[in-house]
Amino acid sequence: FSEVHHVTIDKLGDVPIKRGNFQLLPSHVQTWLAQMIQLCTPRDIHICDGSDEEGEIATKLLVENGQLSPLKKYQNCYICLTDPRDVARVESKTFLITKDKFQSVPHSREGANCVLGLWKSPDEIKKDIDDRFPGCMRGRTFYVIPYSMGPMGSSLSKIGVEITDSAYVVLSMRVMTHVSSEIWKYLRNGEEFVRCLHSVGVPLPTTQSIVNNWPCNPEKTLVVHFPDSRKVMSFGSGYGGNSLLGKKCFALRIAGRIAYDEGWLAEHMLIMSVTNSQGEEKFIAAAFPSACGKTNLAMLTPAIPGYTVRCIGDDIAWMRFDKETGELRAINPEAGFFGVAPGTNMKTNPNAILTCLQNSIFTNVGETADGGFYWEGLEEETPAGTEITAWTGEKYKLGEDKTKKSSHPNARFCCPARQCPIIHDKWQDPAGLPISAIIFGGRRPEGVPLVIEAFNWTHGVFLAAQLKSESTAAAEHTGKRIMHDPFAMRPFVGYNFGKYIQHWLDFEKTPNNKLPKIFHVNWFRVDENKKFLWPGYGDNIRVLDWIIRRANNEDVAEPSAVGLLPKKGSLNLQGLNVDWDKLMALPKAYWVGDIDETLQWLDGQLGDDLPQAIREQIQKQKERVAQL
Ligand code: GDP
Ligand code: PGA
Ligand code: MN
Repeated sequence: FSEVHHVTIDKLGDVPIKRGNFQLLPSHVQTWLAQMIQLCTPRDIHICDGSDEEGEIATKLLVENGQLSPLKKYQNCYICLTDPRDVARVESKTFLITKDKFQSVPHSREGANCVLGLWKSPDEIKKDIDDRFPGCMRGRTFYVIPYSMGPMGSSLSKIGVEITDSAYVVLSMRVMTHVSSEIWKYLRNGEEFVRCLHSVGVPLPTTQSIVNNWPCNPEKTLVVHFPDSRKVMSFGSGYGGNSLLGKKCFALRIAGRIAYDEGWLAEHMLIMSVTNSQGEEKFIAAAFPSACGKTNLAMLTPAIPGYTVRCIGDDIAWMRFDKETGELRAINPEAGFFGVAPGTNMKTNPNAILTCLQNSIFTNVGETADGGFYWEGLEEETPAGTEITAWTGEKYKLGEDKTKKSSHPNARFCCPARQCPIIHDKWQDPAGLPISAIIFGGRRPEGVPLVIEAFNWTHGVFLAAQLKSESTAAAEHTGKRIMHDPFAMRPFVGYNFGKYIQHWLDFEKTPNNKLPKIFHVNWFRVDENKKFLWPGYGDNIRVLDWIIRRANNEDVAEPSAVGLLPKKGSLNLQGLNVDWDKLMALPKAYWVGDIDETLQWLDGQLGDDLPQAIREQIQKQKERVAQL
């Protein structure tokens, strides 16, 4: 031991350790840290321990730096404004690195611009890395964050260590993951962990002008994944999905690859439970693209009596078929919610509001004169005339000029999941929770009915593969257009998407697996006047109720060209004024065009990697919709 410690301490050179004890770290962690310190040349080192004191130190520092400002109205809540050039994930600068290109991306047809992951060769990326990381932390602190994705010590959980030069990332990771020095215990015997390196990419002193005290380097932003060696390197952005590397980078892209290798699933899914009036509880997982309603559904307040909803997770699910029981057991690998703020209010999602009234960070939202948060959607809960300071710094009085916007459309709240009033008491159960139904969905203004049940597992995988949605503000896309987003995973795949679909299909081959029924939902169909045909939010419980009855094999579905639909009258619409026929209609021209377009897109994107079983599903759907 003393030898190891002697060698590595030597490698630290004269970089002082401000907090923590380097010598207590497992030796393979020491070796890696020493290499990264040599690469990044920070001013000092802080090894995080997850304590409250540490949270206070990081907060104080950020407040003094002007990066956070306290929201006086609540306890331990802060507002953070970013450089307006750094407000969302940057898919165009997010890469997968493998020696073999087709390990990362499918054999797209010539001319088809592959959007299911971007690949670069190790040689190419080496240049980009050498151009960015050497000396990138000059004048800054090198924070070491040990964390668990998933309940600490669960066999379903995984460990990561993130190095960052951003105290905002430290604070946010403390909310979003389980940060603790306990982690080192699990790595004592040389166990592997996911290596994450993040830098805002602004070494000090700098001649660049820092906007909003938010250092970032948008010209050079780069997020790279090495799925083979389970590594992530992120440069230039401090924003959520680019910098909180436990989330999309690890829990979806890297974990997706680990899951493929080990035979489980890492998915962009919420996990919730619904208990009916008979006290029967069912667990549901649901995948929607970013900003399409996962957080809202996960915390739904039922609009009709007799149901209790509890939340387990709102964004990511790790799921594994139990070898003995055949159940699909899911955990939420995260510890917090990083939710879209605009649109969240006491009517649409009271549980989210109540979760973030303490110990939370709000990014790119507005502030009221009395020190509260404000965003679009809170109009009715905030007195007209209230003075708002917008995220841009502009001040205005609420209601005077309707064109003023307080928040960026991708503004976020970041709050501890344990504070959610309806968090499930087993949300941290190390064994995971048994999933009875899997739901996919997206924003489909036209053609797509409220709910469809897959005929069988393979058809369900096809439903997921053909998922599309109107684009949102969660990424760099502009303008509203319908984009393909298979499995709601387009921006988050960690390996060849053809293999990913095949991986899903293959679960049927294990006879012991209890395959949940698969559904597709659409809360977003509109009428001629672009008004939503379905009230959504709390009324979505009516659809969940139907889904659960189907999970119990109740005879409430009938076949259609696109899947099983609710028999008329089987979905509880009591007290609602909805046009059921419009909501459920299958316009022939739409579906005939849709399946041709779907085949063209999937074939273009995946080429020969598109599983034959999906081609057969497409052909069958083509024949069915021709009969409409
Ligand atoms: P997430 O990113 O998938 O977690 O999405 P959120 O739950 O944060 O919701 C994103 C946006 O969709 C918010 O503006 C919500 O108000 C809106 N939304 C969520 N659920 C519904 C719904 O059932 N109907 C309608 N019309 N909008 C919804
Ligand atoms: P999301 O990812 O948009 O899927 O929630 C987080 C982010 O944008 O940083
Ligand atoms: Mn969300």
